[in-house]
Amino acid sequence: MANNTNYLLSKIKDKSAIVGIIGLGYVGLPLGLEFAAKGFKVLGFDVDKRKIPLLEKGKTYIKHIKSERIKEAIGSGKLSATSDFSRLPEADAIIICVPTPLDEHREPDMSYVVNTAEMVSKYLRKGQLVSLESTTYPGTTDEILLPLFENAPIIQNNSGSKTKLKPFKVGQDFYLAFSPEREDPNNPDYSTSTIPKVVGGVTPACRKVAKALYDNVIVKTVPVSSTRAAEATKLLENIYRSVNIALVNELKMVFERMNIDIWEVIDAASTKPFGFNAFYPGPGLGGHCIPIDPFYLTWKAREYDINTKFIELAGEINTYQPYYVVDRSMHALNNMNKSIKGAKVLVLGAAYKKDIDDMRESPSLKLIEIFRERGAQVSYNDPYVLKLPKTRKYNYDMHSIKLNKASLKKFDVVVLSTDHSDYDYKFIAGNSKLIVDSRNAFERRGIKSKNIIKA
Ligand SMILES: NC(=O)c1ccc[n+]([C@@H]2O[C@H](COP(=O)([O-])OP(=O)(O)OC[C@H]3O[C@@H](n4cnc5c(N)ncnc54)[C@H](O)[C@@H]3O)[C@@H](O)[C@H]2O)c1
Repeated sequence: MANNTNYLLSKIKDKSAIVGIIGLGYVGLPLGLEFAAKGFKVLGFDVDKRKIPLLEKGKTYIKHIKSERIKEAIGSGKLSATSDFSRLPEADAIIICVPTPLDEHREPDMSYVVNTAEMVSKYLRKGQLVSLESTTYPGTTDEILLPLFENAPIIQNNSGSKTKLKPFKVGQDFYLAFSPEREDPNNPDYSTSTIPKVVGGVTPACRKVAKALYDNVIVKTVPVSSTRAAEATKLLENIYRSVNIALVNELKMVFERMNIDIWEVIDAASTKPFGFNAFYPGPGLGGHCIPIDPFYLTWKAREYDINTKFIELAGEINTYQPYYVVDRSMHALNNMNKSIKGAKVLVLGAAYKKDIDDMRESPSLKLIEIFRERGAQVSYNDPYVLKLPKTRKYNYDMHSIKLNKASLKKFDVVVLSTDHSDYDYKFIAGNSKLIVDSRNAFERRGIKSKNIIKA
């Protein structure tokens, strides 16, 4: 045991270990670039064949990841990418960063993780570390990955013949860990390498090698006792956000009836130097994590006869927010003797949060749907999303319209959904008949007017 472990540890230490990354998306690509920048050879794997030639040409496909970083990594020979999974044995460490969405019944869609684990098990060789980073329910690593990997060594390819070998032993023949990703795209203060990383191993040896690997690229690693604890940590972080956002969304609606401005109240409460963290209301949850991850726990908790009431309630309140924004818009139009039916609506911002191009679970898509259902004619603008992509639920054939005096004046109401920094808020306010601001973006910039209402 010690021999395998020490061998891998020494390869990690002298950076001769090859790092394989499966899933070169928002999480996997920056992580791979980080390892490459620190001197490791990185071999990226992705089933999306379009990504491989782009990377090889040094081109980015994620707005906030600069092409220069990719060019440098490819040019130095530290990064290469492939769709050929038979190259998995080249890697000493395999890091899995594939999607974990919900299916149409809002239950975990584990197909990407399962497909990847099956692929890894096909090629797993002695001495490899596998670390799962995809957000998931507690138990995934040791219930799905571990049994597959322990029974992995079926194929030994000497002259093409297949031989069933003795099952692998975790912590001796291979190492298995869970280390949740905490990527926050486009956060100016934190990036992959500066966000502390939680690491849980199936055995102490697994944790030791995984921690050693990540210590090379991450400012601080935080070891926990098990993969389950690591999986649960990530869920706690996202449930904490979901529940707190739901709380301020609920208070927003209550305070609005009382004629109190929630944003003013949050700013005032934020002056308390302890015991208060500010969360802000909005048009609904978006992104790959907060609207989805809590329901991984809800699903798993059912196996233990527990209903996750907080999570469900938060989900209910957050899901209602786009409806609230549309209702506020209807009232505002009504006050101008206009009905929503036939009204021209411009949804400003399509990405799920400001200054990024990520559309996953964006509440703007829901806003468009509800406005359309109520008979409005909807257009949108987003400088980073020029055409709305097809998603699991929506398939709009819509392109971002140009923002200018003439185009703004055509709309009965402009609904601010994503508060991109690049918007000229003064110009928009000066040229729009009515604005419904779900982010407090205008007042935050000192722009106040009777025709701007908050939602
Ligand atoms: N995006 C974030 O900010 C963020 C933050 C924290 C955690 N996470 C979690 O990290 C995981 C990955 O998220 P992401 O945002 O990077 O997703 P993504 O969709 O941007 O990237 C996933 C990549 O995996 C590829 N892929 C899918 N199936 C594959 C397979 N079988 N083999 C190889 N590649 C495959 C896809 O083509 C894609 O390139 C998810 O579990 C997510 O919840 C994401």
